[in-house]
Amino acid sequence: MSGNRQDKMATIVALCKRRGFIFQSSEIYGGLNSCWDYGPLGVELKRNVKEAWWKSMVSSRRDIVGIDASILMHPKVWEASGHLKGFTDPLVDCLLTKKRFRADDIEPQSGTVLHFTGAKDRESDAAITEPYSVLAKTPADFDKARKTAREFYQQRSIVKPELLGETTEEVENTTGFNPENGGKLTEARNFNLMFRTFMGPVEDASSTVYMRPETAQGIFVNFLNVQQASRMKIPFGIAQIGKSFRNEITPGNFTYRTREFEQMEMEYFVPPEEDENWYEYWKNTRFNWYLEYGIKKENIRLRDHEKNELAHYAKACVDVEYKFPFGWSELEGIANRTDFDLKQHSNSSGKSLALFDEETKEHMFPFVIEPAAGADRATLAFLIDSYDVEGEGKDKRTVLRFHPSLSPIKVASLPLVKRDGMPEKAEKIYNDLLSHSISSFLDINLSIGRRYARQDEAGTPYCITVDGQTMEDGTVTIRERDTREQYRVASDSVVECITSKLRNA
Ligand code: GAP
Repeated sequence: MSGNRQDKMATIVALCKRRGFIFQSSEIYGGLNSCWDYGPLGVELKRNVKEAWWKSMVSSRRDIVGIDASILMHPKVWEASGHLKGFTDPLVDCLLTKKRFRADDIEPQSGTVLHFTGAKDRESDAAITEPYSVLAKTPADFDKARKTAREFYQQRSIVKPELLGETTEEVENTTGFNPENGGKLTEARNFNLMFRTFMGPVEDASSTVYMRPETAQGIFVNFLNVQQASRMKIPFGIAQIGKSFRNEITPGNFTYRTREFEQMEMEYFVPPEEDENWYEYWKNTRFNWYLEYGIKKENIRLRDHEKNELAHYAKACVDVEYKFPFGWSELEGIANRTDFDLKQHSNSSGKSLALFDEETKEHMFPFVIEPAAGADRATLAFLIDSYDVEGEGKDKRTVLRFHPSLSPIKVASLPLVKRDGMPEKAEKIYNDLLSHSISSFLDINLSIGRRYARQDEAGTPYCITVDGQTMEDGTVTIRERDTREQYRVASDSVVECITSKLRNA
């Protein structure tokens, strides 16, 4: 990551902590790696992201209904879905630092490999014959490579290692070495990403259950229940928002890749011959959703998966990618899952999930188009995309230019000064807004400029200011976050005015 991009990420992480968007989980105990807690502003932002998704996928449509399935499911679900066998990442460890990598994240490197057949201790003459190799990219790296090898033997109780049997070999495009220190990596082994726990008091194989790694399976196993209860006809969809768990090998980049996260998934069941049309439809619909909520066009793109990238169940898949400070990365995947899941669960459970087609009088399995998004990733993308610093000197300000429906606080009510009845009037406006469920904030202390700056940094789209004129003619100013434009409205029309602005935003 370049310096600037790293800076931007660090600035956003710091802002998130300072303003109460996101905190490190269990911080007072030193934190728990890859786990994060949403604070008062963050929880509102993430709820608004989920609400925006639910509104566009469920509440505003006649063809999609929702469910909320449990996280723990029958273990056979994961056998049938292929997760028990296939939901693995190839894992390698550095023999020296023990740092763990996903084998497919390691870029091929060229250079000279220094092989050592072992080392003996210069003082005690004790020897070990475990071979070790280090990659050096240039001859200038040889000394560093030998130092790495000595550390390897020191860790194995050779205090003053004298390296034995050094041979060299030129290599091109090898992936067997740690990119950070050139040290040898273990062979890749497959690591299942599902978290396991036990149901009931006995901890054995028969009581093993898994924390779901995707919400999708809760939808597939309920397919017929939902279809029959809601009397849906294909094409129709089932949507779900909920937590998923993956024991990721390399979590990181703040909330981007974590081991506990929230997904927003929808399975759209279609006649098999219409799969490609619906795939195109959902690809465009989902891409446009991010634009509608303010992601800048230049920061988002669609990337089709190559055949060798496709998951075991997918006929086609496209990623919606966002230009994060750490590079273009997946926000959401839209996959054509064919009839794989319904057929697998029918075979495995012995209960057919096929639909009866009234026209052909035959049973059929619909195909599934799945837009699968991450609530935490989308929230992070909206945070990063809305972050802006503008102006110079005294005029400099940090603004989160959230789409108003995503903003955690919609309105701040501010008395210009702390006297002459202004705080009381501001409080009355604040109470009015709250009684209409408009998320608001009352801020009385500090200079008005500092209070505007605090709201800009929280992404609040509107500030209402009660000033001297309010006390004379009953009008207040509305200040717009993005333009800093101010205009007056009657104080008793504030709720109506804000409601209409939020509706039309
Ligand atoms: N049902 C299909 C499925 O789960 P996926 O691409 O593995 O597909 C869908 O996950 C979305 O879930 C991703 O695009 C991402 O937004 C989110 N996601 C997956 N793993 C994640 C993780 N470790 N941390 C945060 N979000 C994750």
